[in-house]
Formats: sequence, C-alpha cells, structure tokens
Amino acid sequence: MELIPLGPGFAAEVRGAGMAEVAASDEIYAAVRAAFEEHSVLVFRAQPITNELQMAFSRKFGPLEIAKAASRGEGTPFSILTNVEPDGTLVPPGHKEELRAMANQLWHTDSCFKIPPALTSVLSGRIVATTGGETEFTSMRLTWKRLPEAMRKKLDNAYAWHDYAHSRGKIAPHLASERERSAMPAACWRMRWRNPVNGRDALYIASHTCGIDGMERSEALRLIDELTAFATRPEHIYQHHWQPGDVIMWDNRATMHRGRPWPMDQPRHMIRTTVSATDADGLAAMWPERSAS
Ligand code: OGA
Ligand code: MN
Repeated sequence: MELIPLGPGFAAEVRGAGMAEVAASDEIYAAVRAAFEEHSVLVFRAQPITNELQMAFSRKFGPLEIAKAASRGEGTPFSILTNVEPDGTLVPPGHKEELRAMANQLWHTDSCFKIPPALTSVLSGRIVATTGGETEFTSMRLTWKRLPEAMRKKLDNAYAWHDYAHSRGKIAPHLASERERSAMPAACWRMRWRNPVNGRDALYIASHTCGIDGMERSEALRLIDELTAFATRPEHIYQHHWQPGDVIMWDNRATMHRGRPWPMDQPRHMIRTTVSATDADGLAAMWPERSAS
C-alpha cells in the first residue's frame, strides 16, 4: 500500500489497496485505519463501487448510521446526495434537493447534531459533475494547532450545541421540516476532540453549531463564524475534483468539508455511508459535564 500526499498537511490518496481489499482483510483494514488516523482524508480512485461493497468497507470502521429522517435513503445506511430523480430526470429549480445541496456548501462536519456523532463518512461518486461539484476539506487538527494559545485555552473545556435545523435555516427558513426537527433535537459536544490513537486535538465545530454553553448566543455565533473563517483560509484547503470511481473517506472528528456548486442542468449523484463514533474513537471525553444549556 502506498500513500500519496494530496493536501496542505493532511489528506492522502491510497494506492495498492481498495475498498474490496479492506472489506476482505483485517490486516489491510488495519493499515488503512492507521492511514485514516494519520491523514484524516483518504481518497481511493477507480473503485468498483456498489452499495454492497461500500457498506462492507464502511462497516469495518464501526457501526453504520441510518440516513436522516426525510432524506433520500431514510431508514437505510445510504444517504443520497443528488439532483437526479429516481426516473432519471433532473430536479426542477428551487427543488428541496437543490436547497439541500446549497446547505452542504456550508463548511461542516457530518452528524455533529446526532447522538452519537459520526466518526467517518464514506462518499462515492456515482455520477460526477464535469464542471464544479468539487468537495473541499480542511484539517481541524491543524486549525487547533494554529489557534493562538489563549483561544485554545478558552475552547479547551468549552461545549457547543449543534442543530441540523440551524444550518438548514441559513439557506431557507423551513428547509428543515417539523418532522426533521423533532427527529433531530440539538446535541452538545466538547469543542476539542482528542484522537485517542495519537493524542492530537481538533476543533469540533460546523455550520450546524448554534451555541456555546455559558456564552451569549450572538457572541457564540460570531465566534463560530470567526473560527470557521480561520479554519478555511484558501491555503489550508484540499479541493477534490471528482472522477468516476472515486471514493473519499474523511474523519469527521478532525476535518470540516463542503460541497461546491455545479450547473444544475448537469446530473450529480453521490452516495454516502456514515460510521458512528464510539468511545474507542475518543467520544467518551466529548459528552458535556452538564446537559442543560
Ligand atoms: C457529504 C457532503 C459534499 C459534496 O456527503 O456529507 O457534505 O460535495 N458532501 O457532495
Ligand atoms: Mn457533509
């Protein structure tokens, strides 16, 4: 197995081992798992993608999430990000899937509003856009290291609230339906996620972050915006141009990502499996000391 560095201090392409090898071999899984802990974003090219293979690969990393209420793929392990209707036609302008794509274009980490939150997401390009539609990543570990010492101290023992409806609300007030809101109440996690394998800390925030314990709401939202801007300076980003057969997995504990726009008259169809974090992934230290906000 070979690792080709891709991004500014994180992200690597894996060569010589693919999804099928990981699914079939504990030894190859262990090598890829170690690379994941180290590099935070792993790219696999030219994969023979099927739902079954993606599930078998993802399952090695931990328990699979079930796709969100009211999403395409609800009740299955597959989150479908698409502008293609089941009959093959493209969704009309202003359609909910277009608004969802816009919400995905805000910097975020997946499922911080869930209990438990996500360890990793595995995204496969089933139909990739020929122009635009890139996915961008930043390292929240490098971000943590780059923060001024005083800010790290301030955030080290801080707890933030994350709400799916909050990020959707930035695109359209009612994008998160009542059903989605009641299925996904806000969740609270520590703002610093320590990786138990290598001891490295990462700042844990997202577009979903709607408050910080003990801080006035508008002040908290301003701080989240500032931290997000700091984390996502252009020189700190890895931008992935999708090719058919690409699969990317990322560490939701240690990165943020966003989709980029593409012309809505072009099909783009992506399928994500998501693995929940467990105590072994450092989640044990993420729970709030007190649950009230
Ligand atoms: C995701 C996501 C962005 C994209 O799958 O979680 O945010 O580029 N995707 O599709
Ligand atoms: Mn995402």
